[in-house]
Amino acid sequence: MDRLDKILVSQNVGSRKEVQKLIKDGAVCVNGECIRQPQHKVNAVADDITVSGQPLLYSKYVYIMMNKPAGVLSASNDKRAETVIDLLPKDFQRPGLFPAGRLDKDTEGLLIITNDGEFAHNMLSPKKHVEKKYIAELDGEITDDMIEKFEQGIVFADGTRCLPGKLEIDSKNPAKTTAVVTICEGKFHQVKKMFAVCGKNVVHLKRISIGNLYLDGNLPIGSCKTLSELDKLSIFMGKMY
Ligand code: URA
Repeated sequence: MDRLDKILVSQNVGSRKEVQKLIKDGAVCVNGECIRQPQHKVNAVADDITVSGQPLLYSKYVYIMMNKPAGVLSASNDKRAETVIDLLPKDFQRPGLFPAGRLDKDTEGLLIITNDGEFAHNMLSPKKHVEKKYIAELDGEITDDMIEKFEQGIVFADGTRCLPGKLEIDSKNPAKTTAVVTICEGKFHQVKKMFAVCGKNVVHLKRISIGNLYLDGNLPIGSCKTLSELDKLSIFMGKMY
């Protein structure tokens, strides 16, 4: 059981102050009875809650796909820079949202935003082997030696060993400077550092998939959409090794 005002805030009905006013004004009913006490305890799943006559469709967790633009921080809040949470339209805002897995400020593409910590852990833990695919533009050619190094597991200068990854030449770009990289972990600056070990710089990086969930090609840069149940399942389909 939770406080009525807390539940309404969690469902993006309004700020704490706004929902308290709605409740005191008599706009909120629980099981057909008008409730004017913000502290009234409700079972958000079992109870019928209406706000101004409209049923509240309660969901504990939300899962959002964002096409992250470059120049925005993958963080929940930051004093100086704009974050991916700041970028969410008002309809998507809720307390407790965070990006599940960080992309660098200059990296674009598929980012999942949620308030479900267990889901995020399952998606990100290297032990779960969920593949993340990136398109990387490089300042030089991809060699067979690099492909082998990625396969064996790149070792950073500090001795950190990466899990085996896959490096492919992007067949759509015969200039051989565009690669598709598949990894199933998310170390800090991992893709850039993997190429740096091979003496190459990444000049542009975009994540295109997580598991079998691909960035929606119709989603404009900076926009987002709610994931369907199938989208969520597809993240955990298609394991790497
Ligand atoms: N690897 C990187 O180097 N940067 C990212 O943003 C993601 C993976």
